[in-house]
Formats: sequence, structure tokens, C-alpha cells
Amino acid sequence: MKIKSADFLLSNSDYKKCPSGDTPEFAFIGRSNVGKSSLINKLVERRALAKISGKPGKTQLINHFEINNQWYLVDLPGYGWAKVSKSSRGEFQKIITGYLLNRQSLVSTFVLVDIRLEPQKIDLEFINWMGENSLPFIIVFTKCDKISKPKVSQSVARFKKVLLQSWEELPSMITSSSTSGLGRDELLDYIDSLLVK
Ligand code: GTP
Ligand code: MG
Repeated sequence: MKIKSADFLLSNSDYKKCPSGDTPEFAFIGRSNVGKSSLINKLVERRALAKISGKPGKTQLINHFEINNQWYLVDLPGYGWAKVSKSSRGEFQKIITGYLLNRQSLVSTFVLVDIRLEPQKIDLEFINWMGENSLPFIIVFTKCDKISKPKVSQSVARFKKVLLQSWEELPSMITSSSTSGLGRDELLDYIDSLLVK
């Protein structure tokens, strides 16, 4: 799929204020700093469309970007940001779960996982929560440029092994890098396959 246009539409803290209509959308979720905003920028080849930061907690709202005047990419706040107070952590949680559980036009969600880390409890809990709520998603491993190819395969295998303890059938998985562009075509093909023509 070719990206012809990518425009910021709006940000807000409540799914009820998200754009109305039935434009299909795809959301990016994962721990703070995992690379959600960077991957959105890489997908649409725009360096500064979604705001990026070396410090976790950059994205604090639900951000809609309109692509090809046809579908939306949605950048969400990260979960598990240790440095915010308990009450604002709860607030982010509410924003995220409210959005995921209620957004009618959400087609699928990309759950981003840092390839370099051992399977993290918070990611596994989130993935299980998605499953329990029958929300469609795929897993996208990020920052694969930071480790060698064999290590990437090892990490994916390790993650699968852990997931198989609670899942009968594994969700789809894509390895990615916003630096090298690994996984970009695969992600765009996945989105394309779900857009009603
Ligand atoms: P929050 O908005 O805080 O939830 O973070 P985020 O998940 O949107 O992460 P963001 O895209 O802001 O990236 C966090 C940091 O990781 C930045 O310093 C990025 O440059 C870096 N980063 C993101 N993706 C990659 C990647 O694929 N490779 C490398 N090497 N660095 C990356
Ligand atoms: Mg972000």
C-alpha cells in the first residue's frame, strides 16, 4: 500500500470525543518508550508526525492521524510508566481501556513489545486482557535493529513459549524497526488486507 497522505487530526482524553463516523482505524499500544510513535512515523514515512521522546510518557492522549483520506492510525499513551503518580497511572489506564473496549471503528490493535527484554509481566497481562475481551490484535516486536538477527529469533521464540502457557493459538507477530524499516511492508499489508474495498 502506498501512503499518499498522513495528517494529524485530533487529540483527546476520551473515546467519546474521538472522530465520529465509520472510518476504520488501527491503534498502537504498548509500554511507554517501546516505540509506538516512532513506528507510526516510519509507517507513513513522516519523521515528526507523531511526537517522539527519549523519555517515557511522551504520548498522553488518544491521537488520531488520517491516512490516505481513508483510514486512521491511532497513537495511544503507553502503559506501565513508573514515574507517574498512581492516580495518573489509573487515569491513563482508564483512557486506554475505555478506548479499546468502546471504539466501534477500531479494526485491530498493534501491541508493541520491546524485542530486547525478557517477556514482561505487564505486556503479558495486557495481551491476556486483550484476549479475554476478544479484541483483535497482533504483536509487533520493536527496536529489532538493536540486537542481532539470531537474537531476534531467540527472543520471538522465548515470547511464544511463554504465551503458549496461556494461549492455545498464538496471535500473529511481526518484527520491526523504525530505524531500518523492518516490518513496515508487512504492517501495511496487514492493514490493507483489513480495509474494506
Ligand atoms: P510514549 O509516548 O512515552 O508511550 O513512548 P512511545 O512508545 O511512543 O516511544 P517513542 O516512539 O517516543 O520512542 C521512544 C524512544 O525509543 C525514542 O528515543 C526513539 O528514538 C527510540 N526508538 C523507537 N523505536 C526505535 C527503533 O525501532 N529502533 C531504535 N534504535 N530506537 C527506537
Ligand atoms: Mg508516544
